[in-house]
Amino acid sequence: MKEFLIAPSILSADFARLGEEVDAVVAAGADVVHFDVMDNHYVPNLTFGPMICEALRKYGVSAPIDVHLMVSPVDDLISKFADAGASYISFHPEAATHIDRSLQLIIDAGCQPGLVFNPATPLHYLDHVMDKLHHILIMSVNPGFGGQSFIPSTYEKLRQVKERVAQSGQNIRIEIDGGVKVDNIRTIAEAGADMFVAGSAIFNAPDYAQVIKQMRNELAH
Ligand code: DX5
Ligand code: ZN
Repeated sequence: MKEFLIAPSILSADFARLGEEVDAVVAAGADVVHFDVMDNHYVPNLTFGPMICEALRKYGVSAPIDVHLMVSPVDDLISKFADAGASYISFHPEAATHIDRSLQLIIDAGCQPGLVFNPATPLHYLDHVMDKLHHILIMSVNPGFGGQSFIPSTYEKLRQVKERVAQSGQNIRIEIDGGVKVDNIRTIAEAGADMFVAGSAIFNAPDYAQVIKQMRNELAH
């Protein structure tokens, strides 16, 4: 059984105090910092790029930074994020022209690669690349915004991903992103996820440590 990882999404943080917010959430027990990159092209929203990632590293953030690229094209940003201090980099396969090449670029840049699946993106994109993956990110909302509700059909998709990972014999993390809360995290884990992105559930709460502790208590059952 893999250790469960909690990955707060800084999309819901106070951007005017981003360094302090990341410090606070790591001090509150976060394992990984989830970094949502949106380009107003692949998704209808615009966030931040490698300069902000680099600024967080210079500020002193040492936790793994999990870059979720919601961009098209993909490849130009890979080396930029690797140089900026990214730990994990994932992208949406339908936004990439050459999926295997993009995964290899991430590996060659020294980062851990992942593929991201929107609620209606089929899992066949996994067919020929399982041996390259560090993580599979399953979106439980349509990408672009924080604070949306978890789409229930995701549970069945997670079970299918879990089965595929087990069949592959590979050590691949299953990450879930969108609408993760204290009251559904246990069911999500039972369906197969072991890495949990949560934006609004953590950053909109007055006490980050309390929410993360409640999530870990749910996962311990
Ligand atoms: C949505 C992003 C998510 C988002 C999750 O496109 O990928 O990471 O921040 O936010 P919540 O946890 O509020 O659903
Ligand atoms: Zn995300």
